[in-house]
Amino acid sequence: MMPVRSIEIAGSTVRVFPSASLACVAAADFITRTIQEATEARGRAVLGLATGHTPLPVYKRLVALHRAGEVSFRDVSTYNLDEYYPIAPTDLQSYRTYMDRHLFDHLDIPPNRTHLFDGTVPEAFVADYAATFDRWIAAEGGLDLQLLGIGRNGHIGFNEPSDVSVHEALRLPSRLMALHPITLADAAADFGDEGLVPRRALTIGVAPILAARSILVLAFGPKKAEILAQALRGPMTAEVPASLLQSARARVTWLVDEAAAARLG
Ligand code: GLP
Repeated sequence: MMPVRSIEIAGSTVRVFPSASLACVAAADFITRTIQEATEARGRAVLGLATGHTPLPVYKRLVALHRAGEVSFRDVSTYNLDEYYPIAPTDLQSYRTYMDRHLFDHLDIPPNRTHLFDGTVPEAFVADYAATFDRWIAAEGGLDLQLLGIGRNGHIGFNEPSDVSVHEALRLPSRLMALHPITLADAAADFGDEGLVPRRALTIGVAPILAARSILVLAFGPKKAEILAQALRGPMTAEVPASLLQSARARVTWLVDEAAAARLG
């Protein structure tokens, strides 16, 4: 088996695994350690979680570790990156359904500590509501760890590419976003048809993501190779939101497979 190699790109650490499943085992171990260290130090752990296809094996592994008695989520709070808007939490395609089904229903986490944006908030209140999320996270003492995937267009959460300055991009708060055409196309399979994908979503902003004490980014497969190279080797730009992670590089760990690393050199 090929060994795990570490590449240093302009101060960012990238760990390249022979397969996505091995990277996911490492991610689950990293999360478990974070929970143990944070609960020992502060009596609780606050995790930022992601959806999409990428983290599914991580959640499977966390459930297995919990069942084996290796980790408890009793003192954990979670904040998810994003939710479609509008959508009911009970909708099969909602991220609330995804998180309950793949993770929360199988853990000892208190249900009132799993936070996802509610996609039913009336439009007149949605901006205030999104801003409240940032205050909740701050009131919990900030995120111990943010788990991230990366969209084919470089989005993190649903912070989509835009033409704002880097200065503004780094300060983007949680908010309602219009989804980018690539995001809509990629979500089509989950909804059965692109026309059924909600056009907007609530997302945790760039600023609260970057404020996490540690950030774990996962990228797997050949479809992520080009955007990964842009995020790590390109300039910081709001056109590639994942490139903004360079501003927190000392706190970011990239876990990728060989296929995604193909253009890193
Ligand atoms: C999704 C999510 C993101 C996720 C990204 C990549 O739409 N909103 O949080 O990281 O797009 O998705 P996937 O892991 O399926 O490639």
